[in-house]
Amino acid sequence: MVGVRPEIRQLQPSLIRWRRYFHRFPELGFQEKQTSAFIQDHLREWGIPYTVLLNTGVVATIPGAAAGRVLAIRADMDALPIQELNLVEYRSQIDGLMHACGHDGHTAIALGTAYYLWQHRQALRGTVKVIFQPAEEGPGGAKPMIEAGALENPKVDGILGLHIWNNLPLGTIGLKYGALMAAVDIFHCTITGKGGHGAIPQQTIDAVVVGAQVVNALQTIVSRNIDPLQSAVVTIGKFQAGAAPNVIAQEAHLSGTVRYFDPSVGDLIQSRIHQILQGICASHGATYTLDYQKCYPPVINHPEMTELVRSVVADTIALDIVPNCATLAAEDMSFFLQAVPGCFFFLGSANPARGLHYPHHHPRFDFDETVLGAGVEIFVRCAERFLAYDSTN
Ligand code: NI
Repeated sequence: MVGVRPEIRQLQPSLIRWRRYFHRFPELGFQEKQTSAFIQDHLREWGIPYTVLLNTGVVATIPGAAAGRVLAIRADMDALPIQELNLVEYRSQIDGLMHACGHDGHTAIALGTAYYLWQHRQALRGTVKVIFQPAEEGPGGAKPMIEAGALENPKVDGILGLHIWNNLPLGTIGLKYGALMAAVDIFHCTITGKGGHGAIPQQTIDAVVVGAQVVNALQTIVSRNIDPLQSAVVTIGKFQAGAAPNVIAQEAHLSGTVRYFDPSVGDLIQSRIHQILQGICASHGATYTLDYQKCYPPVINHPEMTELVRSVVADTIALDIVPNCATLAAEDMSFFLQAVPGCFFFLGSANPARGLHYPHHHPRFDFDETVLGAGVEIFVRCAERFLAYDSTN
């Protein structure tokens, strides 16, 4: 890719090799033992000091030749419970587990960035910390990593992260000042009616009928209660009830997810879900319980850190900038961005000509590995600029 310096281009075969190793051996959140061991083995071999947090999390610290600001670069390492359908030679060797979101690539990019910056640390004025975070896909490793001190000693002044992104073509970068990704809440509710004979409904309270009305009514929250200029999603992803065609169900179990950028929109949705359940259940004589959890806050980019990434890309790398890129998917990078100013961005990775265009979390997901070197180049250039790179070195 044009704009990637020769030394990082030479690193590309290693980046691909590392990424394919992670891809072959995917691990779920907080179980990234082999991934973490691979990272630690390489850091140790290169002489880069690091600490281990939460058993699998790794924080590498690269001090420059002089004191200065501290930049953190964050990568997530976990895979998903998906059976891979790709037949590539580097396909998953673990039954039922797969890197279907590109976190194998994020880990390889972060490792390459650490390697390059360590080789050139004499030129840095300040410190770079590379944070390898567990469990992005759930239950969330960012918050406990921060609580365990990932942003302290030395204290981090700014943070960057990227997501390899098949929703954008190779050769593009998705940037957004402000809200890039949504907050995510999860809820589970149980509606309890009164079971009975399928032919004698007058003796029952049908949990399926009540549940179906609840599902329909929940659709009105976004369409009727939210300002049309705001963004929100309410999805019921799971509805389980009943056991036989001739039995009226006693209980219905509904689970769903809620997405939004603005916290006040989230509060409104939560209270409307309560009201709808209450009203519909009461009108049928049913009861309900609701377990509602706020999971990740929205991913909000800091203007100065976003400008840093934009200027680096515009000045040096042959990537088309897709401005105002946003999605209602969620990411626990948000916790880091709440703690320090930072920027999270999407690195376009789809290449339909090579069949590398399946969506994230699809069993055929794969991406164009050209993005690996580009990712390292962006992080390295941002570090040089953020730490007031001394070009005389
Ligand atoms: Ni992801």
